[in-house]
Amino acid sequence: MTPDLPADPISSRHTSPVPTPAVTLAHISDPHLPPPPVYWREALNKRALSLLSWKKHRQYVHLAQTCAALVKDIGRSNVDTILVSGDLTNFGTPDEFAEAARWLDALPAPALVIPGNHDCMVRQPASAGLHQWERWSARQYPYVRIQNGVAIIGVNSGIPTAPFMACGRVGRRQRDRLEALLERLGKEGLCRVVMIHHPPKRGLVPWRKSLLDHREVAGVFQRAGAEIVLHGHSHDATLTHIAGTDIPLLGVASASLTDERPHRQACWNHLSIHPYEKGWTINLARHRLDGSVSERASWKRAGRTEA
Ligand SMILES: [Fe+2]
Repeated sequence: MTPDLPADPISSRHTSPVPTPAVTLAHISDPHLPPPPVYWREALNKRALSLLSWKKHRQYVHLAQTCAALVKDIGRSNVDTILVSGDLTNFGTPDEFAEAARWLDALPAPALVIPGNHDCMVRQPASAGLHQWERWSARQYPYVRIQNGVAIIGVNSGIPTAPFMACGRVGRRQRDRLEALLERLGKEGLCRVVMIHHPPKRGLVPWRKSLLDHREVAGVFQRAGAEIVLHGHSHDATLTHIAGTDIPLLGVASASLTDERPHRQACWNHLSIHPYEKGWTINLARHRLDGSVSERASWKRAGRTEA
């Protein structure tokens, strides 16, 4: 993956999909990195509740050492790219964005990132927030980066919400662009890996945390297709499907969460994508910090190659 930002959301470094070597990806999410000091003038809004929640509970379960151990484990696997599906911060302050940028820069492989609800907690100039991550994403969403026939598509579902709410929305404009992008990449025979923070499916998170336009987003996938969709936000290691399709929908636990429940304990998804004559084989191994693999899966994804 290249860190350069193409003028067009479709990378100009597009390579032929066959023959290509395997592409390996690590998918992690919701690291909720330890925040630098937050000034009260920055917390006179929804951030105040989040700050309270961090001080009372979250700082004791989202542990920097857990996240560091996970990153170290990924480093041993020599993946091509690390995908981070949002919520790197806790309150989305400019200092947190800067701290997260340093963290992204230090990861053991090139990273791609999308924002989560915590990263978009309040409205602020993009220069103070998302643009600080432009090197690992893009100025415009959805974006796409292509490597050896595999297209990583980043969608932004983060929106500022009312207190106690953590909903997301992709929105009409981004959905239309996503559909056109998926159609085009599908016709080119690429393996389309979509990354979105909020799961585009009902039932994986409580309503107050849900993707408000999940039906419309699922409709985009039903019409245009995708080979796999990755999400965060739920802090759960789940594997299901986009409604009305056979498109795998893969969640992952928070990269920093220490929890007794196995499906909540920090883990990372190791994906290897291999071309075959009719499309792509995608293999999943879900790695836990104790060295075990808690889940394996494999899919033959035909993709779309019709003219
Ligand atoms: Fe989230």
